[in-house]
Amino acid sequence: MKARASCSLGLVALVMTTWVAGPAWGQTKAGPVDFGKREFMSNCASCHGPGGKGDGPLTDLLTKSPPDLTRLAARNGGVLPIARLYEVIDGTGVASHGPRDMPVWGLDYKTQAAEHYMEAPYDPEAYTRGRILALLEYINRLQAK
Ligand code: HEC
Repeated sequence: MKARASCSLGLVALVMTTWVAGPAWGQTKAGPVDFGKREFMSNCASCHGPGGKGDGPLTDLLTKSPPDLTRLAARNGGVLPIARLYEVIDGTGVASHGPRDMPVWGLDYKTQAAEHYMEAPYDPEAYTRGRILALLEYINRLQAK
């Protein structure tokens, strides 16, 4: 009994230390987390390349080449076509035009939200919108000047 009590106290102490000493939500030792960049690096860089130029390591396995995302504004009169890109990334509202190599991120994020929140109340649309808007903000920063 005594051993169990000190064991659980140790666990509480460990959790508290990790919680207090650990990085505050959204921050690292190097400064605030760049959400858009983190999202891009973990979900998009494998195909579109770390700089968005379409040269990711999975490119050889795809039937279509991932487009250069740094030229999106240049190819659209200097303005990033946010609404169109949002729909392409979300993918859920786009009618099927044959097989698509690009994953349907709207569905993927909704699945992630369900796994993350489990029984807690949440808004899957807001979760997905936040992730996609963070990506678009980062893609905007990648545009070739
Ligand atoms: C498995 C490879 C793959 C991954 C991962 C991937 N893409 Fe794509 N992406 C493609 C391909 C290939 C295309 C070209 C259209 C198609 O075949 O679906 C594309 C097209 C796009 C386009 C359309 C550009 C245009 O001019 O229409 C955007 C924007 C885009 N991707 C953004 C992203 C973002 C943001 C992510 C990460 C959340 C991502 N992609 C992850 C392969 C990928």
